[in-house]
Amino acid sequence: MLERKQVILGVSGGIAAYKAVQLLRLLTKAGADVHVIMTRSAQEFVTPLTFQTLSANPVHTELFNLISEQQIGHISLADRADLFIIAPATANIIGKVAGGIADDMLTTTVMATKAKVLIAPAMNVNMYTNPIYRDNEERLRRLGYLFVPPETGELACGWIGEGKLAAPESIFEAAMAALTSKTLNGQTIMVTAGPTREEIDPVRFVSNHSSGKMGYALAGAARRRGSRVILVSGPVGLTAPPGVELVRVESAAEMREAVMARVGECSVVIKAAAVADYRSVERSETKIKKQNDELTLRLVKNPDILAELGRLEQRPFLVGFAAETDSLEAGAAKKLAEKNLDMIVANDVSQPDAGFNVDTNRARILFRDGRSAECPLMSKNELADRILDHITTEFSPRRER
Ligand code: PMT
Repeated sequence: MLERKQVILGVSGGIAAYKAVQLLRLLTKAGADVHVIMTRSAQEFVTPLTFQTLSANPVHTELFNLISEQQIGHISLADRADLFIIAPATANIIGKVAGGIADDMLTTTVMATKAKVLIAPAMNVNMYTNPIYRDNEERLRRLGYLFVPPETGELACGWIGEGKLAAPESIFEAAMAALTSKTLNGQTIMVTAGPTREEIDPVRFVSNHSSGKMGYALAGAARRRGSRVILVSGPVGLTAPPGVELVRVESAAEMREAVMARVGECSVVIKAAAVADYRSVERSETKIKKQNDELTLRLVKNPDILAELGRLEQRPFLVGFAAETDSLEAGAAKKLAEKNLDMIVANDVSQPDAGFNVDTNRARILFRDGRSAECPLMSKNELADRILDHITTEFSPRRER
């Protein structure tokens, strides 16, 4: 997802410096070419060799290094960056940047860059709430510097409070958001995700293997592109992407209610949820006792939420999913037409590497006018981006009308 992106990771001195190693891993795994700059105090906590090994690039520690200055000095580093991250950023570094002080490799390169700068502060809670620090952060925010706020928790100094470096995953998410153009700015997008659970009695339910990964990837990607995102999610073990409004539901009936209550706010609805087609006719108030060798469950059809959306007079741009094990295109095309959709993602769930409860997926996207686009095996994050690329182009002409 960060293929061909040049990222500078500035590490300043604090116990949280070790977490920058994890952040570096996330960035390189996503394809970014990362150059690390360490302050002198950062090197007291983690050795440059660790960052050098994991980034496969030399680590920059000295402003005046004749050899590296010829090959890749601070100006050349600053120029080539798509994004500049400082994590952890101490009160000292933030104060220097805010005050225009450039007296080492890190501060000099930040000063020289035209790239977006993303700062992840980490410090003692009293430093973090000190009005001098607050002024510095405010000033930098006004100038367009981006911040990933620290978390509240037990700090290395023994205090409990705000100042703990944000989780590497949160900084990574903010980095991806900073590098994503805001093609869906001003839109409100609803994504449904996960399974629904249809209770039989207080301890049993009918459901399916949906993990929510596809829907959550779409929600995160839509949010990174600048849209407001309402994520209506069945029961899953995932954390909602930052900045997304999460509405938790259990059953298909609850999902229907949640979707219908908010659809008026949305310009696009993406239904990645695997809604249970049937529910038990009755829900027993008490646990059904084991009795005979056979037990017959009577099921009744659930409302089709997507079809109901398709019948709305003022309907949003509608994107469905069709999980199919055979007759992929025919099955999906039928659903596209019957449910009155704009696009459908025909999801081939016949192979173990795609569909339910895995990190990868393969699909074919069908459009209303008969066109289609192949999406070979890729990560669910990549597929989410592909789907949103198509939504952006298909949806824009409507917006302009
Ligand atoms: O969650 P993961 O583990 O990441 O797996 C992802 C996924 C396989 C669940 C996802 O990619 C997917 O294919 N979701 C749709 C699954 C599905 O229910 O397909 P369907 O063909 O049964 O339904 C067609 C469409 O109608 C879907 O958009 C579904 O949300 C919608 N529907 C279905 C039934 C119903 N009662 N109401 C609905 O709105």
